[in-house]
Amino acid sequence: MAILDIPKKEDNPILREVAKPVKKVDKKLRKLIKDMEETMYNINGVGLAAPQIGLSIQLAVARLNPETKNELILVLINPKITYQSEEMTKMEEGCLSVPGTWGDTLRHKQIIFTYQDLKGQEITLSLEGFNARIIQHEIDHLNGKLYLDHCEKVHEE
Ligand code: NI
Repeated sequence: MAILDIPKKEDNPILREVAKPVKKVDKKLRKLIKDMEETMYNINGVGLAAPQIGLSIQLAVARLNPETKNELILVLINPKITYQSEEMTKMEEGCLSVPGTWGDTLRHKQIIFTYQDLKGQEITLSLEGFNARIIQHEIDHLNGKLYLDHCEKVHEE
């Protein structure tokens, strides 16, 4: 496995592009997913999207219920949000691509989304609260958006 480089947003124009769909899950993609998981834990993030490591494809890894006994890793291939609640919540967010900066970020309280798993099966999940926030942040990365787009102001450490 390998720790991948996460360039800052200034050095990574791909972060502002809409990523291309993943066409097939092969050995190379499975290795990339393992490396992304290792990189995410190495830097203690709760999610990592392929554009953050310079790959413009619809792939992200994320931790649900992070730092609890119910923690699990979700591998999102071609994810799409199909429902988002009108109710919003605000919480401080940061991003591995924007190091040293945080901001109160508005997110939908609940979402329903679909994605493909490693076997190509389509999965539908409903999440709320912090878990929904993590997934919204990662799916944003696949659509050229950053948490900064949902903040009134950001602050440094
Ligand atoms: Ni991020």
